[in-house]
Amino acid sequence: MAILKIARMGHPVLLRKCEPVADPGAPDIRRLVADMMETMEDAPGVGLAAPQVFQPLRLFVFRVPGGRATSDKDDTQQPNTVLINPTVELLGEERELGWEGCLSIPDLRAAVPRAKRVRYRGVDCDGQVIEREASGFHARVVQHEYDHLDGILYPMRMTDFRYFGFNEELNRATAAAQAAAQS
Ligand code: NI
Repeated sequence: MAILKIARMGHPVLLRKCEPVADPGAPDIRRLVADMMETMEDAPGVGLAAPQVFQPLRLFVFRVPGGRATSDKDDTQQPNTVLINPTVELLGEERELGWEGCLSIPDLRAAVPRAKRVRYRGVDCDGQVIEREASGFHARVVQHEYDHLDGILYPMRMTDFRYFGFNEELNRATAAAQAAAQS
């Protein structure tokens, strides 16, 4: 296993439409998935798509840590998961703003509108079908990672650039607002 180098915004690999994976069980794909899981955990991040490690293939890994899950039944903790050749279907018209970061856009985060509910489907390296409905943070992570496979980065989804900033500044502003609210 290995920690992989992560492409940063501006590198053309992040703007490509990725190619389907011909054989999800091939040894090189299994190795790539294992390395991507390790790279995601090391970063640390909650998702990583193949183009972010310079492989323009339709696969991504993700997880939902316990601390990010909400009370919704489709927004529960998810272990490290790979989705190969995935599809994502938006369910309903409801959209919500939520904060997102990206390992290819270090130190920044933004509020991005996403569908509240989705259904996703893909296979793992053993060809097992993974099909789930997701909401909230779980749905957001999957939509963000899926976008990478079509060359879309979260700033391209933004509607209000006031909610875009450096983590350090946003954390400071949040702490100041909380202190003011408590005094
Ligand atoms: Ni990303």
